[in-house]
Amino acid sequence: MTSAPPFELRARAIAHSNIALAKYWGKSTRGDNLTAVPSLSMTLDALSSRTEVRFDARLSQDELMLNGKELGERELERVAALLQRVRIASGLQHFARVESENNFPTAAGLASSASGFAALALAALGATGRPFTTWQASRLARQSSASAARSLFGGFVELGTEAEAGSPYLPGSHWDLTMLVAVIEDAKKPVSSTLGMEHTRQTSPFYSAWVKAAPETFAEVRDALKAREFAVLARAMEHSTLAMHATMSSAKPPVLYFRGPSTELIHAIRARREKGYPESFTLDAGPNVKLLTLTEHAGRAEEFLRGFPGVNAVLRAKPGPSASLLSLENTLGEAKRLELAEQVG
Ligand code: PMV
Repeated sequence: MTSAPPFELRARAIAHSNIALAKYWGKSTRGDNLTAVPSLSMTLDALSSRTEVRFDARLSQDELMLNGKELGERELERVAALLQRVRIASGLQHFARVESENNFPTAAGLASSASGFAALALAALGATGRPFTTWQASRLARQSSASAARSLFGGFVELGTEAEAGSPYLPGSHWDLTMLVAVIEDAKKPVSSTLGMEHTRQTSPFYSAWVKAAPETFAEVRDALKAREFAVLARAMEHSTLAMHATMSSAKPPVLYFRGPSTELIHAIRARREKGYPESFTLDAGPNVKLLTLTEHAGRAEEFLRGFPGVNAVLRAKPGPSASLLSLENTLGEAKRLELAEQVG
């Protein structure tokens, strides 16, 4: 006779957001949300998502709360798809309640899906009570949001072309860098990155050139980071951002995320670098500008951003840690719980 399944399985996880220095934009034609180009990111210590997953026999469907608000069908769909993968792999049948909190604005090009899906993947796997590796958590997160695959790891992280999971490249201690996020708008973005990418692939005459050129830019970013050459890194990462946005802009109709202050800031940062300041910019699927600098210069850079017209807030982050389980509550014994926590820690 098999024993009855546990009534409630619960785990909580934290994951940090990440910002790509070498961007990905576009999915592989192989499907399964694999990426068409390689990317390299910095995990951010100050921007995080905390997520609890509770598989519960009393539920009749999956449920999702984000920042204290119950979310509807559209948001739930992607979350339920991840939970369904976990149910299939683990043999669990219960629906789950997910409660997640971000400590930063959601869906404004601040990579909330990255930290959100990384924390969700980790908590969902943790809650099953079955052993798993960080690689598996990264793969699971990647199937929902490719950038989330990178948020399982701390420091500087890669996601190769058509890679199943992210992989750590360099620890955060490698270089004392700071990322400043200049918040221009914190409203939800008009076009989701998934739709924007697919539309770009289908309609931009520059898309194939972007896919062809991206690996070289990725390698430049990778090498400059390793060699700690700021000026070289700045040129390569800015090229990655601008090539990505140029490709989106050439879709029909265009996918445009820049606002006026985004463009003004790009000019200002370039001019300041000419004067010798170690500052460079990157932008994701949103109008906010992220400024990368050496930590010793971060105070001056922050002052500059705070005084810039159109910048409403500035967030400051250093290379962050890998994602981790905060608690595991299920019917497993204490010894098993510790073993699981160590495996993913
Ligand atoms: O995987 P998504 O849907 O979070 O897309 C992220 C795409 C960019 O942020 C624009 C670039 C990147 O590599 O993070």
